[in-house]
Amino acid sequence: MNRANKNVLVVGGAGYIGSHTTLALREAGFNPVVYDNFSTGHRDACFGTTLVEGELSDRDRLVSTLRDHDIDGVIHFAALIEAGQSVVGPLPFFRNNVASTLSLLEAMQETGIRRLVFSSTAAVYGNLPDGKPLNEGLPRNPVNPYGHTKSMVETMLEATASAHGLQAIALRYFNASGADPQCRTGERHTPETHLIPLIIEAALGTRAAIKIFGTDYQTPDGTCIRDYIHVNDLATGHVAALNNLFETDLPGIRAYNLGTGTGHSVREVIDMVRRISGRDFAVLEEGRRAGDPAILVADASGANRDLGWKAKHSGIDQIVRDAWNYALSAQGESFRSTGS
Ligand code: UFG
Repeated sequence: MNRANKNVLVVGGAGYIGSHTTLALREAGFNPVVYDNFSTGHRDACFGTTLVEGELSDRDRLVSTLRDHDIDGVIHFAALIEAGQSVVGPLPFFRNNVASTLSLLEAMQETGIRRLVFSSTAAVYGNLPDGKPLNEGLPRNPVNPYGHTKSMVETMLEATASAHGLQAIALRYFNASGADPQCRTGERHTPETHLIPLIIEAALGTRAAIKIFGTDYQTPDGTCIRDYIHVNDLATGHVAALNNLFETDLPGIRAYNLGTGTGHSVREVIDMVRRISGRDFAVLEEGRRAGDPAILVADASGANRDLGWKAKHSGIDQIVRDAWNYALSAQGESFRSTGS
């Protein structure tokens, strides 16, 4: 396959995972075009990649973009992502993540583009009692509106695949974290709700303390366990999925977990930030946050088997080190932690 001839529309490509993936696509020889409304994404994270400013809901703009750039395949990242926020304010999640995705699917159908990689999530599984690694054969049973929106889109893709020959891969991410080791791009959400950047803010002194949401879970130290996956591993997962779609030409939708198979508790992550940063900070124990499953850990053997993908940069020490160095570089500090 000659990747230089493959034009890929990266919807939401100016965001956290999108910007790392766009860099990885370029490095793999694809020709990405970023489509973003820049509501949460950043132009300066795109490094000279062709940008198209547009809304996910704007079907006509999507149709003209797909035609004008002679697009061969699409990666769809654009979504609201905070699971906790989706519990207190669900409607924007259904509007953005579900309703607006219809415009993209209609635009793809109208232009005859069949290959799609979709950003799904571990949140589609919900709260499974035994805490074992989750495999893709499990039923989808989300416990928060965010997870429902991603599950609903997977259902839309299944129906579109059987009716119209869509060829889709849904990548179910576990906890995206870390940053580009060269600090070209990283995690910049406003407001920030994710654990690792919040702990780093506490270590930097820009946040008074880190709050632990729940210390009475059925886990060894009472705090939630998550499978943290380096954003660069997610990026190579998208490249592998796209390669697979172009090489196999398989109809239908397949779902793959992107994770490491190893979980870390909130307390373990806090300890790792202390170790990497060499700084101490206050920790407050709070009640549970609504919509949080106790344990989410991936069985990622499917992506390894079918896509030849494996996480390579996702040790929790490397994740925290890259996130820490990115936060320092964003502050303009020259110091780089090498960890210990
Ligand atoms: N947490 C705290 N304090 C904080 C923030 C988070 O204790 O200040 C805890 C949460 O309760 C949770 C864990 O840290 O137990 C991780 O929380 P995040 O908000 O960082 O991430 P989530 O697990 O809620 O969700 C993330 C993505 C979702 C994705 C999910 C998959 O935001 O899009 O990972 O596991 F679906």
